[in-house]
Amino acid sequence: MRLDKYLAKANLGSRKQVKELIRKKKIQVNGVIVQKDDIKIDEYHDEIRFNDEVIVYQQYVYYMLNKPQGVVSATYDENCKTVMECFDEFLGDDVFPVGRLDKDTEGLLLVSNDGQLAHHLLSLKNHVDKTYYVLCKNKIDDGMVEGLQKQIVLQDAVFQPAKVEVLSDYELHLTIQEGKFHQIKRMLHHVGNEVVYLKRIRFGSLVLDENLQPGEYRMLSEDEIRKLGGKV
Ligand code: URA
Repeated sequence: MRLDKYLAKANLGSRKQVKELIRKKKIQVNGVIVQKDDIKIDEYHDEIRFNDEVIVYQQYVYYMLNKPQGVVSATYDENCKTVMECFDEFLGDDVFPVGRLDKDTEGLLLVSNDGQLAHHLLSLKNHVDKTYYVLCKNKIDDGMVEGLQKQIVLQDAVFQPAKVEVLSDYELHLTIQEGKFHQIKRMLHHVGNEVVYLKRIRFGSLVLDENLQPGEYRMLSEDEIRKLGGKV
């Protein structure tokens, strides 16, 4: 692996920042100060030091992104900006968004290279809760709430009952375990309402960090990774 990529993966900074560290002679490979960022290292055997401290390679990365509207939940798209482009640096070929939010949906998106965890979180049989804040077009009434709490059978899809928490005349928290195409929008439409704004605020044990503005991200804490079932 390239040295600058390794250092970025080890959380020493963005690709640009670690190049700067190398230029400033802060990095040693097997006891020798290096000054080229594109040298190849053996991440499993070489000893890399920053200011004399050994750097530990992180095989798995876990980021929480507050997805902004207008970007697609994909690693590559010919026409649209992707969620991966919200990151300052390239995270690696193996890093991907865990699940999808619509282009106009905001909120919590896990971005990781832990395929096993992604499979666990997205598999229906594991009943992982996803909670959304929903701003509705029409006033919410009891009939709508009851409709959302029941199974919804459409011609081409079945949605299991949602947990509903009414926040105000026009606002809800909706918790579902599936993640079918346009699910919340279609559920609301089915009960005679429409989604004006949708934001995911919880994904399993992970709660959206209120300090993150749309488009901002941070690494998960060890505690968050552990609770989610990732590898620390
Ligand atoms: N339901 C939707 O309709 N859209 C999303 O992005 C997520 C859930």
